[in-house]
Amino acid sequence: MDFSEIRALDERYLAQTYGRYPVAFKGGKNATLLGTDGREYIDFGAGIAVNVFGVNDEAWKEAVIRQLNAVQHVSNYYYSEPASRLAELLCERTGARRVFFGNSGAEANECALKTARKYSFMKYGAGRSKIVSLKDSFHGRTLFTLTATGQDAFHRDFGPFVPDVGYAEPEMASVEREAEGACAVIIECVQGESGVNALDPAFVKALAAFCAARDLLLICDEVQCGNGRTGTLYAYEQYGISPDIVTTAKGLAGGLPIGACMLFEKTKDVLSAGDHGSTFGGNPVCCAAAVNVISRLDEPFLCSVREKSAFLRSELKAIGGVDGLTGLGLMVGLSVRKPAKQVAAECLGRGLLVLTAHDRVRLLPPLTVTEEEMARGTEILKEVLE
Ligand SMILES: Cc1ncc(COP(=O)(O)O)c(C=O)c1O
Repeated sequence: MDFSEIRALDERYLAQTYGRYPVAFKGGKNATLLGTDGREYIDFGAGIAVNVFGVNDEAWKEAVIRQLNAVQHVSNYYYSEPASRLAELLCERTGARRVFFGNSGAEANECALKTARKYSFMKYGAGRSKIVSLKDSFHGRTLFTLTATGQDAFHRDFGPFVPDVGYAEPEMASVEREAEGACAVIIECVQGESGVNALDPAFVKALAAFCAARDLLLICDEVQCGNGRTGTLYAYEQYGISPDIVTTAKGLAGGLPIGACMLFEKTKDVLSAGDHGSTFGGNPVCCAAAVNVISRLDEPFLCSVREKSAFLRSELKAIGGVDGLTGLGLMVGLSVRKPAKQVAAECLGRGLLVLTAHDRVRLLPPLTVTEEEMARGTEILKEVLE
């Protein structure tokens, strides 16, 4: 099928929920994608932080195919080795005590928010069901996670919302004002969708201490900033805090749908049989893919992510038209003088895929991006921005 046929079918049959760029892909290797137009594109988006090893990674494909050749799905009424192995790996690497698997970031967060309410209800009874979220946060598109998303633009048209959710500025006085009747605070250490903003470490530390003192659960949403993206397995590690729940998705299975809600000591036994579930949650193929991802994100690999980040950031800093860099590791926000959407469109025209977040250009390349791919990509950004 050529591109115009693909686009015509999309426009006719798909719900038009996405503003798409005019391109489709048919293959590629690592951070270099091949378009249906026969052109190569350097990929600084990785399917929004999903393809941690880029495309066509041989070891990842082998792990997926091995599981496909065994069994592609089992119901959660039965035990499953890939889910058990993945949960063990995640617990060993993070100190979490149990994991619930769903299929997306929103589902991981939905599980976290439900767990927080049940924890509090079991311990303190009614009147403590409020969730405090931060302004400019993004937590998903289900009604509870959309409510917890602190951006009015996403709320239009979909009310009424889930009651008892409040929004604080990322500063302690504001959190304290919102904390009356709360059971949990949910944060992204690096807010991705609102412009790649890393939270201030002093604020996060003070927040963690405040939550611990009041028995408010601290939930770290690592859907976008987790799985090696910032140079540590999870970004909260760099803040020196111990969350009660960590959620993740996107890069966890390297390109297959999965979400994980990691429950630490306080929350490990909150959910019991029948409380929560998902038909595809813990799917063996997705879990086998995630076992491959997590077992390869070891210290030498994470060190290479930090080195790549240093290289990419120094190349980007040298570009005229870049006013500032934000984020952590290979999660980069660029403040630019041209409108970010225009930059993304012009980059595409020259063979580079970038993302945007509010008025920033957002870069989330595969964690295996090579120096050559980074150099080719930054050269295109230079042409567009200077
Ligand atoms: C921080 C964060 N949380 C949650 C989500 C929702 O994830 P999903 O689209 O997989 O439901 C996203 C998606 O961008 C995200 O960036």
